Amino acid sequence: EIVIVPDARAAGELIAAAITDLLTDKPDALLGVATGSTPLPIYQALAERVRDGRLDAAEARICQLDEYVGLPAGHPESYRSVVLREVVEPLGLTEDSFLGPDGNASDIAAAATAYDRALAEAGGVDLQLLGIGTDGHIGFNEPCSSLSSRTRIKTLTRQTREDNARFFDSLDEVPHHVITQGIGTILEARHLVLLATGEAKAEAVALAVEGPLSAVVPASALQLHPHATVVVDEAAASRLK
Ligand code: F6R
Repeated sequence: EIVIVPDARAAGELIAAAITDLLTDKPDALLGVATGSTPLPIYQALAERVRDGRLDAAEARICQLDEYVGLPAGHPESYRSVVLREVVEPLGLTEDSFLGPDGNASDIAAAATAYDRALAEAGGVDLQLLGIGTDGHIGFNEPCSSLSSRTRIKTLTRQTREDNARFFDSLDEVPHHVITQGIGTILEARHLVLLATGEAKAEAVALAVEGPLSAVVPASALQLHPHATVVVDEAAASRLK
């Protein structure tokens, strides 16, 4: 399902409404969150709903999609810090309701496997929010990632490091490695909601939605999922046929 909305604010409202419906049906739903710029309007809309009483998120559980490897604990740009700041705290939740992979583990491979297990033990992800990279990545499954991959360590492409350099003082500070849910892991969520806004995402969105299923465009894996919703603003929809 593709939903075209006028702008990022409308997208945030629409997805926050869907999350509100989910939490009304299942108050302790496990909500998978993405980081980066795109989902921020969703988190702002959710926080507003909590503030004005339209959403009771007190029992919600939150889990991370990916994490940088090797950023010091508490670094403001670690995805744990970002999710705590942008989602967990504004929704009035605590770290107890939060699951994420350990990017500082001495054994990263074991931490990745442990994260997949933790997600399964938590009952699986009910709704996974996704962004999309300009190169078509979801999570940090860069082009040519296996469509059945599990959570594991990945090397970021130069393009993704450059795209993310805006969050750091310089490109050199952007980590080279991440732990990311695999495409196979992501596909296990019961509902996938991918949001893309802005002209820079238009090509990746068109390839993901209208192109062939291919590991070259990891987001095309959404075509395999029985309940995937792609929400785009007019600019990100501009290359759709
Ligand atoms: C972040 C993530 C990435 C981003 C993507 C788009 O947790 O998994 O796939 O969603 O890089 O980033 P933005 O939204 O900053 O353009």
